[in-house]
Amino acid sequence: HVEIINKDDKLRVLKFLRRFFFRDEPLNQSIQLIPEGEDSTCTELEQYCSNASFENNMSLMAVSASGTIVGVLLNGKMDNPLSNEEPEYIRSCKNTKFKKILRLLHHLDKSVNMDGRFRDSKILEVRIISVDTNWRGRGVGTTLMGKTAEMAKEQGYHYLRADCTSVFTAKMCERFSYDQIYKINYKDYVDEDGKPIFSPASPHVAAVSYIKKL
Ligand code: ACO
Repeated sequence: HVEIINKDDKLRVLKFLRRFFFRDEPLNQSIQLIPEGEDSTCTELEQYCSNASFENNMSLMAVSASGTIVGVLLNGKMDNPLSNEEPEYIRSCKNTKFKKILRLLHHLDKSVNMDGRFRDSKILEVRIISVDTNWRGRGVGTTLMGKTAEMAKEQGYHYLRADCTSVFTAKMCERFSYDQIYKINYKDYVDEDGKPIFSPASPHVAAVSYIKKL
């Protein structure tokens, strides 16, 4: 079943995400954000997750009959950027690997907000979605996305947004009739020497921003 995450769930949700998302989200995996085989974490990503949404009553977890978390979806209200400049929290990020990810997310943000058409809209962002490897391909992610849309509508949001770094989340957005508003192929997102910054494993080839009018 699906439950709304509250602040008391924070530690067990983070534990779940450390085990799965931190290691197997396509970008995290491609740059080995978390060193393999170690009981380590990425404090900057933990902070990002916490900023996203343990207290807004808009994030969800799927729980098995035995009470174990099998899926997590963290949502957050989208901030309207004051400018297109790289924000201070990205410039000052000391973790060079995580900074690469923040920069790609900022690149997507700029592209989505380019003409200011969403400036006055209330938008809920799907920021993190993760399912236990043993439960994948069984509709858990789709259920969490469906419930998010219901909640967002009830709370008066105008749009839902998701930046999909995984082809599987992109599939879900297509199925829920989201509109693709920006796409960059990983091979075209390059550093100053023209080398791709991320080369995720197949079948992930692009980061795609989707939006759905509610
Ligand atoms: N191979 C092929 N297709 C797959 C696979 C697979 N291994 N896994 C899921 N799919 C397809 C499903 O067939 C379905 O497509 P359909 O609607 O056309 O039938 C779609 O992906 C969604 O399937 P679900 O079963 O609802 O998704 P699941 O519960 O497996 O969760 C998720 C998908 C969250 C992406 C999971 O694979 C995961 O945790 N991956 C690692 C973390 C990650 O990449 N997160 C997303 C990053 S983007 C973001 O967070 C906004």
